Amino acid sequence: MSETILEARGIGFDYPGGIAALHGLDLSIARGRRLAILGPNGAGKTTLLLHLNGTLRPNRGEIRLNGAPGSYTRSGLAAWRGTVGLVLQEADDQLFSASVRQDISFGPLNLGLSDEEARARVEAAVAALHLTHVADRPTHMLSFGQKKRVAIAGIMAMRPAVLVLDEPTAGLDPSGERHLLIALAGLHAAGTTLVFSTHDIDFAWAWADDVALFKDGRVLRQGTAEDILLDAPLLAEVGLAPPLIAEVARRLPGRDPERPLPRRRDELLSLLSGA
Ligand SMILES: Nc1ncnc2c1ncn2[C@@H]1O[C@H](COP(=O)(O)OP(=O)(O)O)[C@@H](O)[C@H]1O
Ligand SMILES: [Mg+2]
Repeated sequence: MSETILEARGIGFDYPGGIAALHGLDLSIARGRRLAILGPNGAGKTTLLLHLNGTLRPNRGEIRLNGAPGSYTRSGLAAWRGTVGLVLQEADDQLFSASVRQDISFGPLNLGLSDEEARARVEAAVAALHLTHVADRPTHMLSFGQKKRVAIAGIMAMRPAVLVLDEPTAGLDPSGERHLLIALAGLHAAGTTLVFSTHDIDFAWAWADDVALFKDGRVLRQGTAEDILLDAPLLAEVGLAPPLIAEVARRLPGRDPERPLPRRRDELLSLLSGA
């Protein structure tokens, strides 16, 4: 069993006005893995993510970070946010500085890093997310996809141990998505734990090691991507069907059942051409 870095235990949360969003939710996030939080709109994905970095405080239950309950004091939250970085779904909710470079610098400078170290991290994040050509522009003059990448770069530059992204590919065009996925692959290779929410089962299949299936403010089931995403009756409970690439591969005549099913388009295509 791998080590748990972040955990939600019995989280209950009601929004003001009495709207119950989470009902005794349990979730375990293993260090160094990629976890997809998959579920329909309104299942409670965003609400849970806002608990993972202490933005929301649960009405019931607790969030545990490295085996200890999260601390909601000012210094506790600052340390927490250095460990768990959250990228919001709406980049406009996250960007507020005049220029792209200034915006990305905000987090690292707040961590108390030297100017030199902060600058090095900012430049690395700018390059990783292909923002060099817009780095001196005002953030409000960027396209949707560029803003999204700036928001991600700002969190990435803090080098959190756990990077949490709320619906990271929503609204990105194919090239924006490709740049993002390459940057995330680099972070994963460097040991960062990745958590992302999505309602897109094909994206979850392509990228996740583990999946937590959300329904009505609870985790219906958590397990490996194979356990969850190939279980058609389980998925039907949330109105989903298994990933298309896996379904196509499974129906190929003469397929070796011992070989893992392809996760991505290029893997499926090479299987189809008999490679
Ligand atoms: N700011 C809010 N105020 C009141 N209710 C909210 C708010 N945000 C979300 N909710 C409600 O909480 C539930 C979970 O929403 P959310 O966490 O946004 O789900 P998801 O991200 O899976 O779409 C929904 O019933 C939603 O209407
Ligand atoms: Mg959401």
